[in-house]
Amino acid sequence: MAQRLRHVNVAVIGLGMGGAHLKGYSEHPGCTVAAICDANGERLARRGAEFKIDESRRFISVDALLAAAGDLGLNAASIVLPNTLHAPMTIKALRAGLHVLGEKPMAMNSAQARRMIAEAKKARRTLGINLSFRFTPQSRALKEIVDAGRLGRVYYAHTRWWRQRGLPGFGGWFGAKKLSGGGPMIDLGVHRMDLAMWLMGGPQPVAVSAAVYDPIGSRLAREQKRKFDVEDLGAAFVRFENGATLTLEASWAGFCGKNEDMVTEVLGDRGGIVQRNVGEGYDFEARVFTEEGGSLAETLIKRRLVPAPSPYADFIDALLEGRPTLATAEDGLKVQQVLDAVYLSAKLGKEVRIK
Ligand SMILES: NC(=O)c1ccc[n+]([C@@H]2O[C@H](COP(=O)([O-])OP(=O)(O)OC[C@H]3O[C@@H](n4cnc5c(N)ncnc54)[C@H](O)[C@@H]3O)[C@@H](O)[C@H]2O)c1
Repeated sequence: MAQRLRHVNVAVIGLGMGGAHLKGYSEHPGCTVAAICDANGERLARRGAEFKIDESRRFISVDALLAAAGDLGLNAASIVLPNTLHAPMTIKALRAGLHVLGEKPMAMNSAQARRMIAEAKKARRTLGINLSFRFTPQSRALKEIVDAGRLGRVYYAHTRWWRQRGLPGFGGWFGAKKLSGGGPMIDLGVHRMDLAMWLMGGPQPVAVSAAVYDPIGSRLAREQKRKFDVEDLGAAFVRFENGATLTLEASWAGFCGKNEDMVTEVLGDRGGIVQRNVGEGYDFEARVFTEEGGSLAETLIKRRLVPAPSPYADFIDALLEGRPTLATAEDGLKVQQVLDAVYLSAKLGKEVRIK
């Protein structure tokens, strides 16, 4: 376990989604945003002005930022770069002595994820992963209900994130396999499967049968002359060591009726939960189904009474308190193992075992 820090000087590297990291850190009294970095000079200047970061603390190159880590008094960094850079840049930051909050997916594959974990252990630094859907107050409330045993033995779950048309940065790195590692399964499926597996009690996945398709993405790419070589829909059936199973679906494009459709259903022998997005937005409604006094009962989760720290606040708190983050690198690896198996199973056309 890493030593407790008294205050955290954090850098944010990659300033697209990195904007959310900056906002999160700027709201936490236990840390200071001590540097930012982005290869895109215009984005760097805009974020620098937005968050009032002095020009001397803005870097266009990760290597230059890490070389100045001592002078800047840096303790930690968020790595919010395209997926292909997660492993190499995380390893560089760990070797520079920084604690790291990485983005999802943790890496391009589980071999990389394992190397990241080994480097964090060697450097005695914390490595957390922003599996952000766990962090909402409602998801935490559901987890507390599961942990209190209200569902009994959990044996099945289903989770989905479907979009009618939602190909991120179409023609850019998200749709280029060598930069992203895959399509909606690695982009959206990551969140869904992490949330489902967390609510299922964290069983170890042992086998996956999956299929991936790209009819809409590849047609649009041909028509618009853009690059796209990943799936636009993936579906998988995951088996766990304890006999439980999970059906998982993720899509960026499909004739499916809703622009954003997210649901997670978890079934136990004493109760079940359903969490789904309201309308087509990012607000969620959750219900718990149980037997009460001989009747089937339905409880709407209105609001968790205790506020839940954001992933960024949790990372800083973890460093200040000397404890692991809510979503650890080991959690990221478990998701990555399923992803590797999804793509291998889809390629081979048969169920594959996870070693
Ligand atoms: N947890 C979540 O809910 C969530 C949401 C959105 C994105 N993400 C993840 O965040 C990561 C970034 O996604 P995004 O949407 O911000 O992408 P983006 O393309 O908008 O931003 C990536 C940034 O990285 C910069 N960059 C690229 N290579 C660089 C390099 N070598 N050195 C310095 N800067 C470099 C780019 O200039 C760009 O500004 C992805 O892994 C994505 O999966 C997570």
